[in-house]
Amino acid sequence: ATIYIPRDSGALALGADRVAKALEREIAARGLDIRIVRNGSRGLYWLEPMVEVETPRGRVAYGPVKASDVASLLDAGILEGGAHRLALGLTEDIPFLARQTRLTFARCGIVDPLSLDDYRAHGGLRGLENALKLSPAEIVAQVTESGLRGRGGAGFPTGIKWKTVLEAQGPKKYIVCNADEGDSGTFADRMIMEGDPFVLVEGMIIAGIATGATKGYIYTRSEYPHAIAVMNEAIAIARKAGVIGASVMDSAHAFDLEVRVGAGAYVCGEETALLESLEGRRGVVRAKPPLPAHKGLFGKPTVINNVISLASVPIIMDRGAAFYRDFGMGRSRGTIPVQIAGNVKHGGLFETAFGITLGELVEEIGGGTATGRPVRAVQVGGPLGAYFPRALFDTPFDYEAFAAKDGLIGHAGIVVFDDSVDMLKQARFAMEFCAVESCGKCTPCRIGSTRGVELADRIAAGIEPEKQITVLTDLCNTMKFGSLCALGGFTPYPVMSALNHFPEDFRRAPVREAAE
Ligand code: NAI
Ligand code: SF4
Repeated sequence: ATIYIPRDSGALALGADRVAKALEREIAARGLDIRIVRNGSRGLYWLEPMVEVETPRGRVAYGPVKASDVASLLDAGILEGGAHRLALGLTEDIPFLARQTRLTFARCGIVDPLSLDDYRAHGGLRGLENALKLSPAEIVAQVTESGLRGRGGAGFPTGIKWKTVLEAQGPKKYIVCNADEGDSGTFADRMIMEGDPFVLVEGMIIAGIATGATKGYIYTRSEYPHAIAVMNEAIAIARKAGVIGASVMDSAHAFDLEVRVGAGAYVCGEETALLESLEGRRGVVRAKPPLPAHKGLFGKPTVINNVISLASVPIIMDRGAAFYRDFGMGRSRGTIPVQIAGNVKHGGLFETAFGITLGELVEEIGGGTATGRPVRAVQVGGPLGAYFPRALFDTPFDYEAFAAKDGLIGHAGIVVFDDSVDMLKQARFAMEFCAVESCGKCTPCRIGSTRGVELADRIAAGIEPEKQITVLTDLCNTMKFGSLCALGGFTPYPVMSALNHFPEDFRRAPVREAAE
C-alpha cells in the first residue's frame, strides 16, 4: 500500500513531518507493508496536512490529520479507504479540486516530486521530446500561438519575449526563472517547485532550445528553503539522467541549470533588480531600455520568465498551442492558478481557465470568510494590487477586464478581508510597504511613499482631511506616472482603490484644524 503525506511548506508548517514520523512508528510497530511518498500539496490548504491513501477505487483523502490521529486512522482501515471522521472521500471528487482545470498543476500533489520515472509516467518530458523535433523558430511560434502571457504579473506575451531573444545576436544567452515570489498571498511558484520541480526544469530547457540559451538560473528567495532543496535535488537528478547538461536528451543542444538564492528584498522580483542581484550586486532597478531580452544577465540576451509561465510551456508543447489556447477569454488564454488567501474559509490554489469571476472565486470556491462575517474587500494581485469591493465581484479574471476596473491580476493572489477591515489603514500600509521596500533609485517612490504614510496619518487624525485627500490623490498620480518601476508605480493602486471604493473609511475621524 502507498500513503501520501505532503512535503510542501504549507503542509510542513501544519505538522506534516510529525504525521509522517507517527505513521512510520505505527508501520514499524504493526509490521505493516506501507510505502510513504512525500508528495507536493494538492493546494487545499485548509485540509493540510492532507493524507492520501492509494486504494483500488483511487486515492482517498483524510485531513487535516494530526500525529495523534494516525493510530485511529490505521484502526479504521484506511488502507482500504475506510470511514473515519477525517475522511474526505476520493480526492478527485472534493469539489474544490473537481471544479479546477489543472494544466500547469496537473501533476502537483499527485507524483513523487523527485521521481523522474513518476514524472515521465504522468506525461512529463513529452513536451521537450516534441520541442527537440522542431526548429527554435517553430517552438517560439507554438508558444506565441498558445496565447501564453507572463504569469509573473505583467502579462506580456511569452512568445514575443522569446522571439526577441532568439533574434538577438550573442555568443551566450541566458534563461532566468523569476522565482522570487514576493506578493502577499501568493504561493503558486513555491508549490510547483516543491511539488513538481521537473516541470519547471522542462520548461526552462524548452526556453533554452527555443532561444539558443545554454544556461539557466532559477532566482528564488531564502524564505523558500524547502523549494530550494527540492529544486537542487531535481536538477541533480535531471543532470544525472542526461536530461540537462552537455547534451539535452542526447540531442545537439546543451543546457544546464543552477538555483541562486536572494535575501528576500521585494524589489528583487523586479526583473532588472533581480539581474543586479544575480550578478552579485545590491538589488537596484536598472532603467529600461535596454530590455533584458537584448541586454540582460551579464549584458547578454536573456529571457526572464516567472515560474508559472515556464512551467506552463511543457503542456503547450505536449498538447499543442490550440489545446491551450482553447481555454480562457479575450486575450487571456489558457489557465491561471489563482491563490486564495487571507480571511477565507477555503484557502488554497485553484487553477482555472480565465473568465471565472472574482465573486465566484471568493464566495463559491473560497466559501466566504473564515470568520463568518461578510466579505468587504478583496485585494487582487499582491501588495500593489487594487482592493475590490463586492460591487465589482462580477469582474472576470482577465487581464484587460481587471485593468478596465483600475486593478490588476498580477501573480493571481487574492487576499480576502471581512467587514472589520479599516481601509485607511490598508492604504497607509501600502505606502509603508513601498517605503520599506523601495530600492531608492527614483524620487517619486523613495520620497513619495514616506510622504504618503504621513498623509494617511494626518487623515486618520482628522487634520484637514479633505485637503490631505487631495494631496494624496496628487501624490498617487506622481508616483504612478513618475516611478521607474512597478513598485512605486503600482503602490497607487491599493491606495486609490481604497479611497475610491471605501471613501467613508477616510472620513471617520472628527475633523480638527491643522496645528501651526
Ligand atoms: P513590464 O510591462 O515593464 O514588462 C513585462 C515584461 O515584458 C518584462 O519582462 C519586459 O522585459 C518584457 N518586455 C517588454 N517589451 C518587450 C519586448 N518588446 N520584447 C521582449 N520583452 C519585452 O512589467 P514589469 O515591470 O516587468 O512587471 C510588472 C508586473 O510585475 C506587475 O504587473 C505586477 O503585477 C508584477 N509583480 C509581480 C510580483 C510577484 O511576486 N510575482 C511582485 C510584484 C509585482
Ligand atoms: Fe526603486 Fe521604487 Fe524607483 Fe522602483 S519605483 S526604481 S523600487 S525607487
